[in-house]
Amino acid sequence: MSTMTETGTTPTGAAGAGPEKAPLLELRDVGKTFGNIRALAGIGLRVDAGEVTCILGDNGAGKSTLIKIIAGLYRPTSGEYLVDGEPVDFSSPRQALDRGIATVYQDLAMVPLMPVWRNFFLGSELHRGVGPLRMLDVARMRRIADEELRKMGIDLPDIDAPVGNLSGGQRQVVAIARAVYFGARVLILDEPTAALGVKQSGVVLKYVDAAREAGLGVILITHNPHHAYLVGDHFVVIKLGETELDRPRSDLTLDDLTHHMAGGAELDALQHELARGRGPEEGPAHDAAGEGPAVQGR
Ligand SMILES: Nc1ncnc2c1ncn2[C@@H]1O[C@H](COP(=O)(O)OP(=O)(O)O)[C@@H](O)[C@H]1O
Ligand SMILES: [Mg+2]
Repeated sequence: MSTMTETGTTPTGAAGAGPEKAPLLELRDVGKTFGNIRALAGIGLRVDAGEVTCILGDNGAGKSTLIKIIAGLYRPTSGEYLVDGEPVDFSSPRQALDRGIATVYQDLAMVPLMPVWRNFFLGSELHRGVGPLRMLDVARMRRIADEELRKMGIDLPDIDAPVGNLSGGQRQVVAIARAVYFGARVLILDEPTAALGVKQSGVVLKYVDAAREAGLGVILITHNPHHAYLVGDHFVVIKLGETELDRPRSDLTLDDLTHHMAGGAELDALQHELARGRGPEEGPAHDAAGEGPAVQGR
């Protein structure tokens, strides 16, 4: 567990001890509009090495737009984006990747019929020979993929098996190991557990933690507060494109987070209304919602 997890927006005392190291990645007052649709406004975010930053929010909150900005797919309409303390202006995901910012999307860019090792190197294949004799270095790719997966404690029965045979959780895990191997410093995961059951979600979260242990800054997008709280060091809740909550773990309980995600105050008001005329035996509003991640097809 790292210290100094506070952002500038969260006054928790203790900050300012020792020279401040620039965060891996920082957004300042970032906004994004599509025509006259305002998807994001006034977003601040900082991501430090060895920390999991969870971004939560309802459907349509702006989570995907935010990570697309970080991943270099969109340019912010306003505000600043800094990497290692320097302003950047990415115009493609390749540029973000070159700075060590890797994204694992929900619909993974994998080829189901190709073997695990082949998918591990997809788009970055190793070759041997030159000119017309240049060919894929199959042996080396198989060996490295095998080694790297083991290094992260991932034990697949057969790396020659088509990726399509793996479970959704295992595929996510292969994608995480791949990003780590190719030198990611920041790993962005867009709802990696949304389509998974409890057990497989656990597997993915275990490797989210492994990536953090390896020193990466991890950004985990989810709308499941339980999953977030299992691994998160820092929590940002986005609502209608704006930051609704931004707190380190030390300032937040799972109950707080669940309550926020369930609609907090709105739900309290609704409960109050619905409770009229009924018996006094009502549980707290936030026990009813926030569970069951919406299962999204892939
Ligand atoms: N390419 C786009 N063009 C127009 N509107 C968009 C586009 N992408 C997202 N939006 C809008 O921005 C808002 C946030 O969307 P999104 O970032 O996908 O939310 P989330 O990932 O949290 O569900 C939504 O109102 C959505 O309709
Ligand atoms: Mg989304």
